[in-house]
Amino acid sequence: MEQMTLAELGLVKPDTDSKVEEKESTIDNSQRISGSKTMQILGLSRHTFDKAVKGGFLVQHVDGKKKYYILSEIEAFMTTEEYKQMSEGSVDKRNTLNDLTGKDWLPETKSFFYQKGLGADSPEAQIEKLHPAPYSFQDIGHLIRFFTKKGMRVLDPFGGVGSTAKACEVDGRVCTSIELSSKWHELSIKRLETEVGEGTSKNHIFINGDSCEELLKLDDNSVDFVVTSPPYWGILGKIDQKVSKNRVANNLETKYSEDDKDLGNVDNYEDFLDILVNKVFMQCARLLRPGKYMALVVSDFRDKSDFISFHSDLVQKMNKSRIPGGGILNLQGIKILLQNHKSLLPYGYPFAYVENIHHQYILIFKKEAKKK
Ligand SMILES: C[S@@+](CC[C@H](N)C(=O)[O-])C[C@H]1O[C@@H](n2cnc3c(N)ncnc32)[C@H](O)[C@@H]1O
Repeated sequence: MEQMTLAELGLVKPDTDSKVEEKESTIDNSQRISGSKTMQILGLSRHTFDKAVKGGFLVQHVDGKKKYYILSEIEAFMTTEEYKQMSEGSVDKRNTLNDLTGKDWLPETKSFFYQKGLGADSPEAQIEKLHPAPYSFQDIGHLIRFFTKKGMRVLDPFGGVGSTAKACEVDGRVCTSIELSSKWHELSIKRLETEVGEGTSKNHIFINGDSCEELLKLDDNSVDFVVTSPPYWGILGKIDQKVSKNRVANNLETKYSEDDKDLGNVDNYEDFLDILVNKVFMQCARLLRPGKYMALVVSDFRDKSDFISFHSDLVQKMNKSRIPGGGILNLQGIKILLQNHKSLLPYGYPFAYVENIHHQYILIFKKEAKKK
């Protein structure tokens, strides 16, 4: 499209001040728009709006102490390429991490977000709800879009019913999903075939096995992002009786499996942490390319009357561990995933403070050569 000059678009001030005066005195009041209203019409942040004004793409008029903009000029600016770029943003040429524009990047750096699911009645949630502890593929989609570009490789060592694989398929990434139980493994393949499209499971690698063994078979520096939610020790055996009874009544599983290799079946908490960090997460880190990220979705929990701060135990253990072959995982941030839709249960009422744990933590690590 031939580029029109700003003058042709009526976006620059006339040459002489006298003309400005003349023009401004004839401007109909309904055409005069305040700065904040103009920003609202344009849907631009203050920073981008200031850039548009400083760059001469939009004229700021002054009448005494009052600054204002003219509606017809705003409308003309909205038809330009410059406006299109400013409102939609563009991917920075130096960005090797993801395909996000500056505008899409910023909200993803917030330290919290609200969990979004499909709702149990959605036809697309029927496989997901068979599993005792899936995460929402939409929430994971945010992480995948932030930490990878299209076509990049994502690893989930605790694949469950394939929420990570589904998010990868929806967003054009390639997933390797490892799951111990053949029931969940098969359902994760079926999930892609039925919920996303026939043949889509073939775009990904689904491994049915123990991550402690399977990860050893995979190459160093071969994945761009690791995202997963591990078993939270034996928490499924300890969850609220009411929740558990409901699942039993609906013929749904309350455990992942009876397998001894299932990390949810390790008796001792310290042993569990040790296997999880050294045999699974440090191996995942070996597979990560340098400079890439790992996101772990976890929650704290109660063991009888003890409150176990699983997320902080995990961070401490990860901080002390080294990646086989070199390097370290440096913690970059902790996002809180708010589960505001969960029902409140009167655990301690009316005697004691017993928390309704309605959030999860997303621990975000980066693979680097040494400790910061
Ligand atoms: C919290 S769930 C993951 C759910 C998954 N994010 C989803 O949305 O479906 C943890 C999963 O780890 C699996 N698991 C437990 N021990 C394992 C092991 N040693 N190797 C591979 N998978 C294992 C369990 O069977 C369970 O499905």
